[in-house]
Amino acid sequence: MNYDYAYYKKIADFIKAESGGFEPEMGLILGSGLGGYASSIEKVAEIPYKEIPNFLVSTAPGHDGRLIFGFAEGRKVVCMSGRFHSYEGYSFEQLALPVRVMKILGIEILVLTNAAGAINESYDVGDLMIIKDHIKLTGASPMKGANIPEFGERFFDIGDMYSKSLRKIALDCADGSGLRVHEGVYFFFTGPQFETPAEIRAARILGGDAAGMSTVTEALTAAHCGIPVLGLSLMTNMAAGVLEEKLSGEEVNEAARKAAPLLEKYFSNLIKNLPQRKEE
Ligand code: HPA
Repeated sequence: MNYDYAYYKKIADFIKAESGGFEPEMGLILGSGLGGYASSIEKVAEIPYKEIPNFLVSTAPGHDGRLIFGFAEGRKVVCMSGRFHSYEGYSFEQLALPVRVMKILGIEILVLTNAAGAINESYDVGDLMIIKDHIKLTGASPMKGANIPEFGERFFDIGDMYSKSLRKIALDCADGSGLRVHEGVYFFFTGPQFETPAEIRAARILGGDAAGMSTVTEALTAAHCGIPVLGLSLMTNMAAGVLEEKLSGEEVNEAARKAAPLLEKYFSNLIKNLPQRKEE
């Protein structure tokens, strides 16, 4: 199914009316077990996904499914508490929807967080990785199908998709945060199964530092419509085959829960330091 600009515009108009005309400057999409930060947003409006006609509905555990509008560190944000993944049955094209709607709402920066498995053996559980690039070997793209020129060009550059200047700010904010912070390459797997040890070995040889099942569709959609992205991965486990242990969703959520206090503190400081909306 191909959607056109009017399709996204109608959804954005509905949301804008429901949020009292709030104009977010920044979008936040919080990953598995990392949604806690949403509670520190000074809320102006909140809309459950299921009340938005034609929006997607999240089914993943730990993803609660609300769009939150408000102030984070004095910045106007729209926050997706709960994201959508291809393993839920959504096509890559469908996964473009939330970011396209945020674009129409006016965001100028997109911050993405996720839980990931550490491929890089020098990383530890609880470390944070600032995404500097990604590898996605599935042929799918959220921009497949007719191009929508209101969003961007048919062919678009993604060399600086994970914005170098935003990464620098994220790295600077790591000082004194108590977190171990790296910059690395996110290797996308479709899931929902964790990877095989052989897949992780292959990903390591190819240059992957962390394995995850989200983020890339949102980053690509943002790149298409000219929004700089900052992506942050929390290492919730060592990836398959690194340790002699079984991987589980509970382990992922438990590690995210443990890291939450430091991570949320880091996140507040980061948001404070991200560039302000450009004046007209
Ligand atoms: N692999 C893929 N996705 C993940 C992992 C992992 O090991 N941990 C958390 N999300």
